[in-house]
Order: sequence, then C-alpha cells, then structure tokens
Amino acid sequence: MKRLLVLLFNTIFIANIYAQQPFSAAQDSIRKLTELDHQYMLKQLNIRTLRPGANGNDSNAPNAANYDEAKANPYSNLPDALTFNSGKKVNSVKNWWIRRKEITEDFDREIYGWVPDNTPGVNWELIKTTDTVLSGINAVEKKIVGHVDNTRYPQIKVDIQLTLTLPAGAEVKIPVIMEFGFVFPPGIRRPGDTARASKPPPPEWQVECLKKGWGFAILLPNSIQADNGAGLTQGIIGLMNKGERRNPDDWGALRAWAWGAGRVMDYFEAGNEVDTKRVAIAGHSRYGKAALVTLAYDQRFAIGYISSSGEGGAKLHRRNLGEIVENLAGSGEYHWMAGNFIRYGGPFTSNDLPVDSHELIAMCAPRPVFIGCGDKGDAWVDVRGMFMAAVAAGPVYKLLGKKDLGTTEFPNIETGIMNGEIAFRQHSGGHTPAPNWPFFLEFAGRYFNKR
Ligand code: GCU
Repeated sequence: MKRLLVLLFNTIFIANIYAQQPFSAAQDSIRKLTELDHQYMLKQLNIRTLRPGANGNDSNAPNAANYDEAKANPYSNLPDALTFNSGKKVNSVKNWWIRRKEITEDFDREIYGWVPDNTPGVNWELIKTTDTVLSGINAVEKKIVGHVDNTRYPQIKVDIQLTLTLPAGAEVKIPVIMEFGFVFPPGIRRPGDTARASKPPPPEWQVECLKKGWGFAILLPNSIQADNGAGLTQGIIGLMNKGERRNPDDWGALRAWAWGAGRVMDYFEAGNEVDTKRVAIAGHSRYGKAALVTLAYDQRFAIGYISSSGEGGAKLHRRNLGEIVENLAGSGEYHWMAGNFIRYGGPFTSNDLPVDSHELIAMCAPRPVFIGCGDKGDAWVDVRGMFMAAVAAGPVYKLLGKKDLGTTEFPNIETGIMNGEIAFRQHSGGHTPAPNWPFFLEFAGRYFNKR
C-alpha cells in the first residue's frame, strides 16, 4: 500500500510539474503516453506478450509474489564474474579489468542501455547561497542548476537540480555524501520518512555529515529524466534522441540518472570545495538502483550506500522472490531499463541474462559498497537475493586485494557485516533508508577519515 501511494504521488507530482495540467488529467495523459511508448518498444522487439509481473498486493492472485524461500531459486547457476565469455578463467588483476569491460558491455546492451558518447556539456549556475543552521550547526546551502546544452534540439530543456550543503567556514576540500532525492508535494511523507519507522528515528544523516565536517548534496533525478515511460521522449534521453522514441538498446532512466550524477562530479572536480576522491553516492529504492548503477559505472565515486534497491538493483535477477524481472519489463517500470531488457520478461527468462547483479556489484570493486535493506515491510526487495549477490561479488574484491563479506551465512537482523569492502545490513524499520544511515556513515568514515 505504502509502495502504491509512493508511486501514485510521484507520478502525479511530476506529471503536474511538467504538464502543467490539473492533477488527474496530467496523470491520465502520462499513463496513456506510457502505454503507447511501451507498446512501441514491444513492437520494435517483436514481442506479442509478456509474462505478468509478481503481484505484491494480493497473495491470492495467480501471479502472487513468491515469498517462500524454497521456491526462490529456480536456477542453480550464476554467471561467473571471473570467467570470460570465451570460457577462459580470469587469473590476474590485469585480466579482471579486461573482463570488466565484457561485463559492462553486457549490462549496457541487455540491461541498462548505452549512454550515447556525445552527450552535451552542462553549464552549472549557482542560483542562491543561504546561510543556515541545522541542529545547531552552521552551514551554507547552495542551490545549483546544471543547464544541459540543448543546441542539438532546443525544444527540450534539461536543468539538473542540485543542492550542496557544506559546514560553514570549511577551508579545505571536504568529503560529500550525495543522495538521489525524492521530491514530494508539501505535506506528503516520502518512503522512509523517519516518522513512519517502527523505532525511534536515528539522527538525520545530513546533520551527522555536518558534525563530521563533511558536506551533503541532494540531486533530483527527475530533473535529469522523468520517472515514467511517457517522459522518455523528454529529459536527457529525449534530448539525445531529438524528441523521438528510444531504440531497444538506448539508455533507460537509471543510466540517465547516473549520468546526471556524473555531471555533478564534473562540477565538483572543476571547483575547489569538494574532495572529489571522497564523494559517496546514496539512494533508496528506485534511487538505490540508480546509486548502484552510478557507483558501478563511474569509478570516480568512492563509495555507495545502496538502500533497498531490490530488482534492477542489487537483487539477483535469477531469484524468484518479491519483485521479479517481469515487473521491470512491464509498462510501470521498463523506462528504468534498456528496451532490450523487456525481452527477459517475454521470450527469454532471467536465466538467459548473460550477467546478473553480483557482477554489477563487482563492477564497483575495489571501492567499498554498503548494501542495506529493512525487515518484513521490505520483503518486496528480496533481502536474501541482495545478500546472495553481495556474497557472489566477493571473489572479485578478493582478487583486487580487498575483503569480501567474510561470510556466506545470512546474518541476523540488525547485525551489520561491515568488516570488508562489501557491507550488508538489514534493519528492522521496513522500507526506509533511515535506520541504516548511521551505519553507512560509520562505514564511510573508515575510508574518508583515513588521511
Ligand atoms: C516499486 C518498485 C520497486 C521500487 C519502488 C520504489 O515498489 O516495484 O522496484 O524500488 O517502487 O522506488 O519505491
């Protein structure tokens, strides 16, 4: 229910922003345009029917989501991150970096899509600087907009929205934690709002960052690319396609959001406030997927907090528990992915994927990654499926001289496994990033405070 509300509000809010119509009319036209775009993609792929996604709302439905662990592993083998597509084993660090290219290409082509290599420049404008006080700490908040050069197709404007908050008077370049931010209409709580959690809320992570002398940034993904299929002819994807629909191997919203995060990194690199060797990327749920894609692809990000990313994120595609590949292939979510990915919800199955999510985690190696999730209220994300992916990414970290999880045994709730470069922790607050924030910040501190 919570999930549905989130989706609903998200859609309505965004629709209203860019369609400038009454809520219901905007929502309706978004839905219709999304259906048309999805259909158009199916036609390009020559797909007549798709298998239905798992139904997470009705346990009596014929396609009810599976929550029985005994049925969760229909396929016995995962692709091996350390075996080349030719069958040859990866036996050196040097070979890993060659193998990594192969894996990346598979993710590009089959899962997330290619980023065009001629994406335009971004002109960053500091809109406003505000002195502020957060829980007694003096800080400076900067509202910044990245105007994407739209010479190739002036009808589409993309203005990337960012806020950067730094402790007041910071004199050296400092670490920054950047989060993909949810935006909701005033008065509407976002998923993971601490007030909904069953336990007393931990201190706000932003305040904790300032206390450590770090900054934090909030990047609005929807200012880069809308969170629906209708928006695929707009945003950075639409700009690159000059307002036309996508080809099957074009990028989806996840890579577009990650691209935006990369442009923020460019901006940080050009400035003198942020220590760009110490920038973390964080996100929850769909933005947890985006954070993992960002960390995997853009090696400038030092570390990531990947919260409840589930299917399309850290969860193994080959698992059948909670949300599955078929959900992502449907019209509500296909826009996150490359069109090609839809084939795995139709003619192919998840077992046909040349890569699986443990290899996306492995792409982050040797950089530290924290995979977080909640308890029962977070079953949809397949907590164990994410843990299994984290385990299976281990050999790559070890090859690169780093520590893996150090166990293959699923840990007790609220027992963080945090001694290596891959960390995992399940909290008891449901579908929210909040309870794991202090643990992630502790984990990040291990790396950021080293010097
Ligand atoms: C839905 C979707 C998930 C996604 C979530 C969210 O539940 O199925 O994949 O992570 O929305 O972003 O809130």
